[in-house]
Amino acid sequence: MSFKSKVEDLLRNYPPLFRFASRMYHKMHGSFRTLSPGAPGAIRKGFERVQQRDGSVDGDYYEFGLFRGYTFLQAWNHARELGLSNVNFYGFDSFEGLPPAEGIDQADGRFFEGQFACSREEVENNLAGEGVLLDKINLVEGYYEDSLTEELHSRFPFKPAAVVLLDCDYYSSTVTALKWMEPYIQVGTILLFDDWFSYGESNELGQQKAYQEFLDRHPEYRSEDLWEFENHGKGFELQAGT
Ligand SMILES: C[S@@+](CC[C@H](N)C(=O)[O-])C[C@H]1O[C@@H](n2cnc3c(N)ncnc32)[C@H](O)[C@@H]1O
Repeated sequence: MSFKSKVEDLLRNYPPLFRFASRMYHKMHGSFRTLSPGAPGAIRKGFERVQQRDGSVDGDYYEFGLFRGYTFLQAWNHARELGLSNVNFYGFDSFEGLPPAEGIDQADGRFFEGQFACSREEVENNLAGEGVLLDKINLVEGYYEDSLTEELHSRFPFKPAAVVLLDCDYYSSTVTALKWMEPYIQVGTILLFDDWFSYGESNELGQQKAYQEFLDRHPEYRSEDLWEFENHGKGFELQAGT
């Protein structure tokens, strides 16, 4: 466990102090970079896997949880490097950080309201500053509970998902995202859960619980483990169930 993780674990016993320290940390480390060192590599491996498997990548990239936009930028860069011209990019975020933690998302106080807030304008500036063409990407703003509506399905020409990054921390956010994604998730979709091990091995909390519930609702799928990635992530490929 890294020194930073040890300090985080300690501070979590004192929630107000933890929240203060977390806000200070992000203020001091305000540069445009990822919180998840392994996520960009996992996204690339996801694209490469689909490309090698199918000969091309015709599905889209969906990201739930952008913070400053770094993983979204890396998805864009990897797709360009790999020559994936058919992939559309969709990013979903409140741009106000996490909603209030409710129910099981309150466990151990690691996530809290407003954490990872970064305005849409700042995210767009970050992306444009690194060469992303803003008219070629689609950002959907709002808390998922409000923004992931039936109407949204007809607002963009969404295609089936090639790679989905779920980096939205909460169980509840992951449930909402996966439910809305149901029409676009299919056999062959790569699902990357950045917060898979946030609660260790427990499948009673967080993203592990949300994905288990998704699989229970969809016996037509089987989930194949792909790779784990830093800090808490794990990737899967959906296959046809038996
Ligand atoms: C850990 S950050 C994402 C980090 C980013 N992918 C990176 O590596 O730089 C989590 C993001 O999820 C968003 N998020 C989580 N739950 C949400 C919800 N219910 N509605 C909208 N945004 C949500 C937060 O606003 C935050 O930007």
